Amino acid sequence: MSAMSKPLSGAECEASSPQSAGPRQAAITASDLCIGYGDLSVIDNVSFRIDQREFVSLLGPSGCGKSTLLRAIAGLLTPTSGSLQLQNSANEVTDSKPRVGLMFQKPLLLPWRTTLENVLLPVEIELGGNRVSSIDEARAREVLSLVQLSSFEDAYPKQLSGGMQQRVALARALMSDPDLLLLDEPFGALDELTREMLNEELLEIWRSADTRLKTIVMVTHSIPEAVALSDRVFVFAARPAKLAEVVPVELEHPRDLESQAFAKSVSYVRRLIRSFS
Ligand SMILES: Nc1ncnc2c1ncn2[C@@H]1O[C@H](COP(=O)(O)OP(=O)(O)O)[C@@H](O)[C@H]1O
Ligand SMILES: [Mg+2]
Repeated sequence: MSAMSKPLSGAECEASSPQSAGPRQAAITASDLCIGYGDLSVIDNVSFRIDQREFVSLLGPSGCGKSTLLRAIAGLLTPTSGSLQLQNSANEVTDSKPRVGLMFQKPLLLPWRTTLENVLLPVEIELGGNRVSSIDEARAREVLSLVQLSSFEDAYPKQLSGGMQQRVALARALMSDPDLLLLDEPFGALDELTREMLNEELLEIWRSADTRLKTIVMVTHSIPEAVALSDRVFVFAARPAKLAEVVPVELEHPRDLESQAFAKSVSYVRRLIRSFS
């Protein structure tokens, strides 16, 4: 461990977040993981463990392989070598992920479908075009209420702001009641204030008892966003990506974005990333 890898903590923020209390079970375990596309090596010999109920952010230079790693965790890419295992809440090691939600930078909504219909789309695809049940509809309304869009269920995407469209995308990702949520720059296209508001809402959803959601892995380019949300920040060096540093963020929730401790943590991570870029 380098001198820079000590945990981030402010004088007034000694305690870790409630999410990190108690014994932990692994959610994702990677050992000597290598991932590539043909001859292109992207992730090079990376090992880590992410615990259940943990929020981890992936930071690193553009093109280093963050989305690639996320896609592999989602089971959409097969590693070249090494192992990548997901553990579900029943403590069974599985190759596939029983309950994983995915969300991207673009909301990817169908313009001719209402909010409710967009949220129900994955269920319809799973049903092969058959009518969704009233239980599914009730679930869709539930997740829309979680993202505070209950009164917009009949609106079309063009009637929604960028932030609201991302809320719909989040609701759609929550439809399967995932244990693990994988986010690829989910708020990257939003203005700063909207991003901060959605960050807070995401934390609330993560902590609420209304979902099974335990673990979140988020790719972001925003250092303040990573520090505001995460238990740990994984810092990757340029491609082929190595996991250069794992930075625990030991600031108590709710994190005060105006505090000196927060600013110190952000500048610490920024200097770290620069040293690896
Ligand atoms: N489907 C693909 N086929 C070939 N190369 C790819 C593919 N997807 C990504 N890459 C390459 O892999 C590298 C890492 O990409 P990516 O994981 O998207 O980086 P990041 O998300 O960190 O910006 C880049 O050089 C990119 O060009
Ligand atoms: Mg990416």
